Amino acid sequence: MITNSIPLLSFVGLALLAGVVCTQTIVLEAEDGTFTGNVVVDTSIPGFSGTGYVSGFSATADSVTVSTDVAAAGLYDLTVAYLSLYGEKKAYLTLNGSPSGELDLTSTTWANVSAGQVLLNAGTNTVGIQDDWGYYSIDAFYLSPALPPPPHQATAPPVNANATPEAKSLLKYIQQHYASSDLLSGQQDTDSITWLQQNAGKSPAIGGFDFMDYSPSRIPFGATSNATEQAIAWDAQGGIVTFVWHWNAPTDLLNTPEEPWYSGFYTAATTFNISEALADPTGNDYQLVLRDLDAIAVQLQRLSDANIPVLFRFLHEAEGGWFWWGAQGPDAAKALFRLGYDRFTNYHGLNNIIWVWNSVQSSWYPGDDVTDILSYDSYPAVGDHGPVSNVFNELIVLGQDQKVVALAEVGSIPDPTLTRAYYADWAYFVTWGGDYITDNTSNPLPFLIQVYNDPQVITLDKVGDFKHLP
Ligand SMILES: *[C@@H]1O[C@H](CO)[C@@H](O)[C@H](O)[C@H]1NC(C)=O
Ligand SMILES: *[C@@H]1O[C@H](CO)[C@@H](O)[C@H](O)[C@H]1NC(C)=O
Ligand SMILES: *[C@@H]1O[C@H](CO)[C@@H](O)[C@H](O)[C@H]1NC(C)=O
Ligand SMILES: *[C@@H]1O[C@H](CO)[C@@H](O)[C@H](O)[C@H]1NC(C)=O
Repeated sequence: MITNSIPLLSFVGLALLAGVVCTQTIVLEAEDGTFTGNVVVDTSIPGFSGTGYVSGFSATADSVTVSTDVAAAGLYDLTVAYLSLYGEKKAYLTLNGSPSGELDLTSTTWANVSAGQVLLNAGTNTVGIQDDWGYYSIDAFYLSPALPPPPHQATAPPVNANATPEAKSLLKYIQQHYASSDLLSGQQDTDSITWLQQNAGKSPAIGGFDFMDYSPSRIPFGATSNATEQAIAWDAQGGIVTFVWHWNAPTDLLNTPEEPWYSGFYTAATTFNISEALADPTGNDYQLVLRDLDAIAVQLQRLSDANIPVLFRFLHEAEGGWFWWGAQGPDAAKALFRLGYDRFTNYHGLNNIIWVWNSVQSSWYPGDDVTDILSYDSYPAVGDHGPVSNVFNELIVLGQDQKVVALAEVGSIPDPTLTRAYYADWAYFVTWGGDYITDNTSNPLPFLIQVYNDPQVITLDKVGDFKHLP
């Protein structure tokens, strides 16, 4: 029995155990590649392989590309050896001249990062790195044949033992589609859902809504919301409900022309310090955190009263640091997540929530006992409809393949033919609203129509009774 805690990169090792003949790893040194822009071969930082490495990434035109010949078409694991002297930076990956996902480069010493899998054609192929945030050095690319992953093990009921029958059923429904490599479609915002129906002729299975304007610190400025009513209306149409919460900081908004009150969920728009607030449960800031959680509990209770299970993506994108709940590092974010879980579940007795975590790094993970679904928000380069398989695989490792893995927010929808080819079995995607769906660029209409008519993409007309599975 293959244990699921084995990182995917060891599938080659597993193949050897299983007696499958494996060809050797193909090593492609970056310094032997072709360059555009300002990149140069460097040798000043020891520890590289081959005769040097490539650095000087600082503008969009900067890239390195290496090429290799393979006898037969197939899926390969790609690893990139790199150095990111100034800490976390993102880099675009290219495959045969097209954008193919984004890499998160975090190590300040020479390291390998899994870039997921690449589908190579028979004959000559190229892979490369193109500047995104810049300031990294690329040493080498490693390609080795990939094997189909073992079946997913995400079958457990919700972490809240008192989950409502509807919440239990919804998680089971998602797990069943996940196991069949189906892809549930999703769309943020009522207006964008309407646009999709009118232009692509289909509605998504999942509707996305935001608790933002219920944040107590927005109310004095005149914010009002009917997001709960919108979700209730969506449920009445047979759709699945997901919520995010752009949580305006409880207090200490800068409210300047540059950082107005309505941007108060951004780190840059507040001096509220969550680390300090959590350190003193008797302090005013802690009480304000509870006040805010209680305000959102009122909305979740209304949804519960209407028998609506909610995929709740609490403290989204924490690891990015751009929202105040992630600005003081992983410990404060994890503590706040657990506080919220406890407040909603045990204090308010809300049992209609499926808990969706939305950061990838293991140091940020609040724990198996408070998480039902692991997710990622993906905004690749325009035109990139790749499978985001590198992050999929990281989340499989994070949840030891016991948790459903989903794309909670996307700018570009992944092409379902590619997610299948790469075994990147994302349970669902939710496209962000507005331009991302309507501008005919992030997701061109012909592509949307293709996705929304794919036999394995679940749309509203195919969703069925997800609340009452036996
Ligand atoms: C990266 O992986 C290659 C191939 O497996 C290995 O030779 C190399 O030592 C690794 N580099 C680092 C920094 O771990
Ligand atoms: C929510 O408010 C908007 C703007 O006032 C309105 O157009 C819409 O019909 C409301 N939706 C629901 C479900 O109440
Ligand atoms: C936030 O509070 C923590 C704990 O008191 C402190 O270590 C940290 O420096 C503070 N952060 C900022 C940005 O002031
Ligand atoms: C959208 O883009 C496609 C090409 O991707 C083009 O054929 C079509 O005319 C565009 N539609 C609109 C409404 O602009």
